[in-house]
Amino acid sequence: WATSAHTHENFLQCLSLQFPNSNSISKVIYTRYNSSYESVLVSAIRLEQFFPPAKVPRPLVIVTPLLESHIQAAINCSKQHGMQLRVRSGGHDYEGLSYVSYQQAPFVMLDLVNFQSITIDVENSTAWVQAGATIGQLYYTIAKKSPTLGFSAGVCPTVGVGGHFSGGGYGMMSRNYGIAADNIIDARLIDVNGRILDRKSMGEDLFWAIRGGGATSFGVVIAWHIKLLPVPETVTVFTVNRTLEQNATKIVHRWQSIAEKIDEKLLLRLFLTRANSSQHGKETVQASFVTLYLGGVDTLLPLMQQSFPELGLVRSDCIEMSWIESILYFSGYSGEPLEILLNRTSSSYTTYFKGKSDYVTEPISETGLESIWKRVLEYPEEVTEMELSPYGGRLSEVSATATPFPHRAGTLYIIHYGVVWNEAGENALNRNRRAIRRFYRFMTPYVTKNPRSAYLNYRDLDIGVNNKGNTSYEQASIWGLKYYGINFERLVHVKTRVDPGNFFRNEQSIPPL
Ligand code: FDA
Repeated sequence: WATSAHTHENFLQCLSLQFPNSNSISKVIYTRYNSSYESVLVSAIRLEQFFPPAKVPRPLVIVTPLLESHIQAAINCSKQHGMQLRVRSGGHDYEGLSYVSYQQAPFVMLDLVNFQSITIDVENSTAWVQAGATIGQLYYTIAKKSPTLGFSAGVCPTVGVGGHFSGGGYGMMSRNYGIAADNIIDARLIDVNGRILDRKSMGEDLFWAIRGGGATSFGVVIAWHIKLLPVPETVTVFTVNRTLEQNATKIVHRWQSIAEKIDEKLLLRLFLTRANSSQHGKETVQASFVTLYLGGVDTLLPLMQQSFPELGLVRSDCIEMSWIESILYFSGYSGEPLEILLNRTSSSYTTYFKGKSDYVTEPISETGLESIWKRVLEYPEEVTEMELSPYGGRLSEVSATATPFPHRAGTLYIIHYGVVWNEAGENALNRNRRAIRRFYRFMTPYVTKNPRSAYLNYRDLDIGVNNKGNTSYEQASIWGLKYYGINFERLVHVKTRVDPGNFFRNEQSIPPL
């Protein structure tokens, strides 16, 4: 602690020398002796298990920059005084890596909460969005300017664009428009030397790396320049539930081969949960098909009848609405005023949670599905919900090397596993983590192998972590090949060029050679 106190004093002194206006320093720096430190730290923590007093090292200092020069100063001073830097935009990292260091290193947290501005250019269908804005704020601001423009990114409005876009960004329009990273046309980034770079000055290699490779290994993204996407004035949504007694096995089996091929304006997401069977009064598995169609119900119905009659969709299941209302629908806010999208803290994810991911390239057989249902019902503690999101469409038209996100042609769908619990404390945390790991092992025969792929935005430290300090390429490739496939090597080369001293590092950052 003595060394930490010393480091942190030196760091503060360095910052006060570098800040252009020393009066502003007290508005942007929070040390542990500051009464607001705790509230600033927890303000964007989305996953309950990382709330203090969990046994995880906290930042020595929190910086909430108001100006780009504050970020430059924080980078310079952290470097000079041997502190790590963690950057937080929306705070939704599944393992809390934007504000937690499992490596026990003294670190500064840079919280971009004051970088939230969004500028929409309707005429050119583009926008600049600062990294600390949330996707809810982005969707709201676009919709206020135009009813026929939108953007392709995730579902939960409180997710931050800083981490989300740099790790991919899958949402309900991804089959038509790809992931968020596919629609980024420029960026502003501060590198390890404190230089402010745009696409031209950073070069195509670095610009490539931060769109799906996790920007946190390469610098601090200040803002993204994105291409806005046309949306029709009317879209259609539906949620249709089928239990095992209602033929769910056959319907899910069929879904696997059609959801990736069907018209790309249609995204049929599938949630699998346990439910009480109304017929037998015992537990069953329920498949919920949660869907967005970029068009009206009159064209959707014949399309579904032709491609997926097994679901038995009828007109009364469907609701027509505007694109922005569909954002409220999918995030569970139907009927609420649009302004709810501006709320940075309204997350329903306030219980304890652990998530993992898998990719599927071959349909799971009906017998395989039946084994999964049996497991889900016999061991309810292992998984609370499975979310199956289809790929195909625009996602598979983009080549696997166009961005670091490699999950393109040939991918049928991604599975997101989540276990949720209410009991506080380390025992419950460890018990639930062990439980979901057992389920993940059980799923091995059904998912991708060599590598067993995973989605960076569903960060999972179980799939491998770096060695403390300067990790080896071999160690990092254990997890790196799972997230990035053939793109891992290029990411390492970019890292070697732009941050050879490995300043921007965490438990799963790209290492330099
Ligand atoms: P956070 O601030 O925690 O950052 C995540 C990572 O990015 C950290 O390593 C951080 O250091 C780094 N980082 C953040 N800002 C940076 C910056 N400006 N420059 C450089 N590095 C930066 N995903 C998805 O694809 N579709 C979805 O629908 C959802 N839905 C969803 C719901 C909920 C409730 C959660 C908790 C998560 C999701 N996600 C998701 C996953 C989400 O995309 C992922 O957690 C993102 O990394 C979150 O970005 P934040 O900026 O919010 O997180």
